[in-house]
Amino acid sequence: MLSGCAAAPSTLAPQGQGAAEIAMLWWIMFWLATGVFIAVMGLLFYALFRSRTGHPEESQTESRRDNLLIIGGGVTTLIILVVVYFFTLRTINVLAAATPEAEFTIEVVGRQWWWEVYYPNQQVITANEIHIPVGQRVALKVTSGDVIHSFWVPQLHGKIDMIPGQTNTLWLQADRPGQYYGVCAEYCGIQHAKMAFIVVAEPLDEFREWLEQQSRPAVEAGDPLTQEGQELFLSTNCSQCHTISGTSASGTLGPDLTHFASRSTLGAGILPNTREHLAQWILNPQQIKQGNLMPATQLTEPKLEALVAYLQNLE
Ligand code: CUA
Repeated sequence: MLSGCAAAPSTLAPQGQGAAEIAMLWWIMFWLATGVFIAVMGLLFYALFRSRTGHPEESQTESRRDNLLIIGGGVTTLIILVVVYFFTLRTINVLAAATPEAEFTIEVVGRQWWWEVYYPNQQVITANEIHIPVGQRVALKVTSGDVIHSFWVPQLHGKIDMIPGQTNTLWLQADRPGQYYGVCAEYCGIQHAKMAFIVVAEPLDEFREWLEQQSRPAVEAGDPLTQEGQELFLSTNCSQCHTISGTSASGTLGPDLTHFASRSTLGAGILPNTREHLAQWILNPQQIKQGNLMPATQLTEPKLEALVAYLQNLE
C-alpha cells in the first residue's frame, strides 16, 4: 500500500484518451465493488443482529423473505457482471481501434534493456526517447529483438507486449504537452526494472522541427577536444556497436548515438544525461546496469574527457 504513495506516474491520472478510458473502467469497477462490499457487510450485520422470535408462523414469513434476499442477490450479481462486461468490451474496442488516419508511425523495438525508436517515414532513428505531436494519434508498431518485453506508458495507454517475430500495434495520444514516463512491463531479465523511456509530447511544429533535426547527420566535431574524442570513438570498440550517422561508426548492437546529446536520459531512462553520468557510464557501465552488453573501458582521464566532450556535442 505504501508504494501507492510514491510519485510514480499513476494510471489514475490519465493524460491521454487511451489511459482515460482505462481509468474510467477502473473507477466503474471500483465503485461497483464498493457498493457490493457495503451491501454484503450490511446483510451480514442484519443476519447477525436480527431478532428471532421462534414462532412457527413468523419464521415462515422470515424464510420467505430470506429466499427473496437470496434470489435478489443472484439477480443483482448478474446485472453487475453484465454492466462490467459491457464497459470492458467498450474499453477494449476503443483501445484496439485501428488508426489508419495516423499521420505519424513509430516503430519501437524492445531490446535487453533499452528501446530502439524508428520513424520510418522520416528515416529517423533514436533510442529511449519517443517524441510525439500533442493532441493527435500516432500509430505505434512494436516488436522485440530478443525476449518478450512490454511497452507501457501508464498515463497515455495500456500495455502492449513486444514479441520477437511479431509486430503488435497500438496508438498513442497525449492531450497535453509534457514528458511521460514509460516502462517495460514484462519481466525480461536482470535489468528489467531499469528499462525505462520517456515520451515527449510537444506542439506539432516543435515536433516537426525535432524530426527534421534528428534526420540530419551528426554535427561535425569542431574544436580539437571533440575532434580527439571523435577519433577515439571511431578508432576503438565504440564504433563497432554504435552508429553515428555521417561518420564511419555503423554498429547496431547498441543505441544510435547520432543525436545522443539531444536526449535527456542515459542508460534507457535511468540517469539524467550529464557529463558526470556519461563519464561513469563509459568507464564502467556494468556498475550502473549490470548485465548490459556494453563492456567497461580503460581510458585515461584526458581521453575520457575528450570522448565525453565529443558525445555531449552530438546535439
Ligand atoms: Cu524489457 Cu522488462
